Amino acid sequence: MHRRHFLKTLPVIASGAAMSGALDPFTAQAATPHGIAATVHPLATKVALDTLKKGGNAIDATIAAGLMLGVVDGFNSGIGGGCFMVIRRANGEVMVIDGREMAPAAATRDMYLKDGKAMPEWSQTGALAAGVPGEVAAFDLAQKNYGKLKLADVLLPAAEIAEKGFRLPIEYADRLGRVQKELALFPASKEIFLKANGSALRLGELLKQEDLAKTYRAIAKEGSDWFYRGEFAQRTGDWMKANGGLMTKEDFANYKAVLREPLRTKYRDHEIIGMPPPSSGGVHVAQILNILEHFDLAQFGSESVETYHLIIEAMKLAFADRAWWLGDPDFVSVPRGLVSKAYAQELAVRINRKQAGKVEKHGTPPNATTDIFRKHTTHYTVADAEGNWVACTATINTTFGSKVVVPGTGVVLNNEMDDFSIQPGVPNSFGLLGNEANAVAAGKRPLSSMSPTIVLKDGKPVFSAGAAGGPTIISQVLLAVIRHVDFGMPPLRLLQQANVHHQWSPDEVKIEAKAGEHILGPLKQRGHNLKQMSSFGACQAIAQTPAGEFHGAGDPRVNGKADTF
Ligand code: DON
Repeated sequence: MHRRHFLKTLPVIASGAAMSGALDPFTAQAATPHGIAATVHPLATKVALDTLKKGGNAIDATIAAGLMLGVVDGFNSGIGGGCFMVIRRANGEVMVIDGREMAPAAATRDMYLKDGKAMPEWSQTGALAAGVPGEVAAFDLAQKNYGKLKLADVLLPAAEIAEKGFRLPIEYADRLGRVQKELALFPASKEIFLKANGSALRLGELLKQEDLAKTYRAIAKEGSDWFYRGEFAQRTGDWMKANGGLMTKEDFANYKAVLREPLRTKYRDHEIIGMPPPSSGGVHVAQILNILEHFDLAQFGSESVETYHLIIEAMKLAFADRAWWLGDPDFVSVPRGLVSKAYAQELAVRINRKQAGKVEKHGTPPNATTDIFRKHTTHYTVADAEGNWVACTATINTTFGSKVVVPGTGVVLNNEMDDFSIQPGVPNSFGLLGNEANAVAAGKRPLSSMSPTIVLKDGKPVFSAGAAGGPTIISQVLLAVIRHVDFGMPPLRLLQQANVHHQWSPDEVKIEAKAGEHILGPLKQRGHNLKQMSSFGACQAIAQTPAGEFHGAGDPRVNGKADTF
């Protein structure tokens, strides 16, 4: 099983009321009178701001950034994948859009087993790995309901870059180099991303994606139906049939982005708005915050052994529950009690404040079978002069997803099917375990860790964060919220702190070495099994001060860029 340093895209964009702003473009720290965008790529940040300048709102700007990322950061996300959006409108309404991929109608629980044995490569590479993509539907739904511009307005700038090409930055060249063998298995992928001699394009070389430009322009002209009911669905269905896949044209026609109720939780004097299932992100960020509310972290200080210890212990308890309870709420009962204050108290008392605890199994929240997340309920971040904020996280799962480009379209298909539990006890590419709740089924959406989050204070948005990196997303967003709420750190500063992550199984703490020996040493003494990492994760965050000034930062780990106008 590979354990790569996974990244995904997360643009964070905001535009705000007029006031005097200062901007330092060299530190990814931006304060602004009009608008702010933070993404992992300068071209995506720029197109978001351009969109605001030409009269779009935060929703339009987020979508423009997402579509540009599909071109310049296509190994992470794109229209062949899915996304979650948390939206807070200027009028105070909050909603979430679930654009998660969906299993094809012919998918079955044991489709990744051969003679009873799990075949992880089937759910990770090639025709069986992809779910029906949701990003186009989610963007369309968001823009039609809450945007000011048309899909064509935000597609065309990205189409232009796809056609003209862009020079590969280090992150792109590095990831391409790592998967060139797998990309070479698929002729359309090979033709775009590899040279004639089979080697990958390198740092500084020009990548042109003419087919993708045509695809974007076709959607601009004919609308999302071209993707879900027209040529794209047809071409994908045909390729799947010829290459052993299950996805059909009808699967595309049956796909719907879902408007769900956001998950709302109080944490100290703030309100956290997160993504409900089929994301596990909102549930477990909320659950861990509820547990940590029982401890005065501010008194211990951000960089203290006590704070790290408590965070790790709370993560363990929550991730044990994740593995047992979480799945698509349209198919399984996910207990709401997981985010109840009473359950958090029960879990908090189990934490030994001085010693790493063993968590043998999941807990049982109150009313586990009766009080469940409702069926059909419903990250980038945008805020504008009117007060609209959007947090949107998008992905095609692991680097270049399934590695399949649908011939003639330039679209890289996701490998989100690997986010299902292909067999109980068999870890996925992120080492995550799952159970029946997250087993494969026709039309079901695989469990996600994506955690787009908006934080309110006194009813007003004050902070937003989201991240890339599989299950470490939950931990990164949790840390961002704590470092903002408990320790008052601005975005760049909080992203400069060490990341820490425990996902219950395996029983190890991933922690960045920059935490320092004064933290690492005592944590080991308390019994934590530390796995030191040089770096992991990619989180974007923005904040608005009481005076209305915006601050934002793209993760310095991936040369993320925040900017304003
Ligand atoms: O939805 C999820 O939890 C995963 N598919 C996210 C994958 C990810 O973060 C990969 N990239 N960095």
